[in-house]
Amino acid sequence: MVPGMSVARENVSITADPALCVRCGDCVATCPAEVFSLADDGLRTDNPGRCIGCGHCVAVCPTGALAHSDLPADRFEPVSEEPAFTLDQVRRLLRERRTCRRFTAEAVGPDEIGALIAATSHAPTSTNSQNVRFLVFHGSEQVTKLARLTCGYYLKLRRQLENPFMRLALGAAVGFKTVAAYRMRMPAIAAAFERTLAGDDRLFYGAPAVVVLYAAGLPHLALANGNLAAAELLLAAPAAGLGACYNGFAVTALVRDKRARREAGIPDGCTPAAAVALGHPAGRFFRVPPRNRRRIIDAGM
Ligand SMILES: Cc1cc2nc3c(=O)[nH]c(=O)nc-3n(C[C@H](O)[C@H](O)[C@H](O)COP(=O)(O)O)c2cc1C
Repeated sequence: MVPGMSVARENVSITADPALCVRCGDCVATCPAEVFSLADDGLRTDNPGRCIGCGHCVAVCPTGALAHSDLPADRFEPVSEEPAFTLDQVRRLLRERRTCRRFTAEAVGPDEIGALIAATSHAPTSTNSQNVRFLVFHGSEQVTKLARLTCGYYLKLRRQLENPFMRLALGAAVGFKTVAAYRMRMPAIAAAFERTLAGDDRLFYGAPAVVVLYAAGLPHLALANGNLAAAELLLAAPAAGLGACYNGFAVTALVRDKRARREAGIPDGCTPAAAVALGHPAGRFFRVPPRNRRRIIDAGM
C-alpha cells in the first residue's frame, strides 16, 4: 500500500480468468494499492477494498485475464503501438504554447469547451480521485460576473492596504514581503480593474469563456489535481483553434474571499485551483520568447 493512500472503493470485485492468467505478476507489480499477490495456486486478489480504480491491473495484463467490476472491459481503449509524438514534437508543443491575451469577440460554444475539458480526463489525480470540477463561465454576462467578483476583491484589498492596521494584520497572515509586493503593484492592478469594471476587460482580455477548476479534499492535493488538468487545458487549447490564459487574479480572489467563492458557485469545502480564460486568439506569435534555463539541483550535493 502506498503510504497515505486512502481506501477509495468498497465492494470491488477483481477476478482473474485462470485459463488466461499466465501468472506474469505484472498486475501485482503495477498495482499501487497492493490488491494482488501471486500464490502457488495462482493470482489472488487479497485486498480488493484497497483498489483506487486506476485500472492499471486490467490495462497491463498481456492476456486480458482480469475483469474489474467497476471498470467494464469495453471501457478500455487500445493503446497505440507507436508513441503519438516524437520528443521533438513534444518540445515544440511545450515551447510554442503561449499565454493568449488578445481574444476576438467570437463565441466559444459549450460543446467546444466540453470537448476540450473531456480531453483532460486522463490528467493524473491523487489516489485516482478524479475529483476536479470545471465551472464554466460562458459568454460575456457570466464572464463579467466572475470579473466583478475578482476585481471587487482586489479593490477591497487596495483599501485594506491603505490602512496601517490592516497592513499589519495582512502581513501577519500572508507575509510582509507579499504585502509590500502588493502595495507596489496595486496602483497598476487597481487601474486595470477599474477599467475592467467600466467595460474594458483588462482581466480576461475579452475572453468569451472562463473555466474555474476546483476540487474537494486536502487543499494541496486539490491544487495539484486542478492545476495538472489546467495545464492540459492550456496545452490542448491551440489544437482546438483556441487561445488560453491562466488567470491567477481570479484564483487568488476565489481562494481568499469566501463570499466570492460562494457567489461564483464553488461548493464549501472545495479549493479553487485554477482559472483559464478561453477564446479565439486575435493575432498570433511569430517568435518563441527566451526562458531561463531550468535549474537542476543534484539532491546528493
Ligand atoms: C499561477 C499563474 C498565474 C497567472 N496569472 C495570470 C494572470 O492573472 N493574467 C495573465 O495575463 N497571465 C497570467 N499568467 C500567465 C503568465 O503571465 C505567463 O505564463 C507568463 O507571462 C509567460 O508567458 P507564456 O505562458 O506565454 O510563456 C499566470 C500564470 C500562472 C502559472
